Amino acid sequence: MSEAAREKWDARYGADGYEPSEEPVPFLRERVGDLGSGSALCLAAGTGRNAVFLAERGFAVTAVDISPRGLAWACALAQRRGVEIEIVAADLLSYDLGTAAYDLITDFYFYEPDLFPAIGRAIKPGGRFVFQTFSVAQAAMSGGPSNRAFMVEQGDLLAAFADWRVRYFEDTVVEDQAVVRLIAEKR
Ligand SMILES: C[S@@+](CC[C@H](N)C(=O)[O-])C[C@H]1O[C@@H](n2cnc3c(N)ncnc32)[C@H](O)[C@@H]1O
Repeated sequence: MSEAAREKWDARYGADGYEPSEEPVPFLRERVGDLGSGSALCLAAGTGRNAVFLAERGFAVTAVDISPRGLAWACALAQRRGVEIEIVAADLLSYDLGTAAYDLITDFYFYEPDLFPAIGRAIKPGGRFVFQTFSVAQAAMSGGPSNRAFMVEQGDLLAAFADWRVRYFEDTVVEDQAVVRLIAEKR
């Protein structure tokens, strides 16, 4: 499964003419002031648009993704912008996120609910988790994932973070995408 994911994303990021977006997810840009400071772990960081944005704002960033080709784009973007980020090529389904290691963890467009307990362990008390991905409402719209398992049911997400202080939650449509957005603070 994960080997298939690496092949799929390496093929996408290595395709002729592929040019990744260098702009962070707008929700991250809008809300970065609510995310504190310190160390940040960017899960499924892809080509690094969000990781580099956080490094530019002073976070010490670790970017993890299964795709070496995606991470090569992330390295190049960081170099061009004059910031450093730590790059880790790893399968998040088996990678050890650590314990109380990060002030911030980000997850954009990678929905893997089995990872939520490890995210909870890896964030320091008072640290934040910021998340955005497609909601189940995307199934009735064009574009987005073809597999419903990659779309979030808002009740499932809020249940997973019931013990956290939810500082922001939205189930909405932005730019023709049905998304859920969450900022949760670990107690
Ligand atoms: C839709 S992209 C999102 C990339 C990035 N978060 C962004 O918003 O630009 C999903 C990312 O998840 C990564 N991915 C998929 N399965 C993974 C796994 N098991 N472990 C680590 N990364 C994975 C892919 O390589 C890809 O970069």
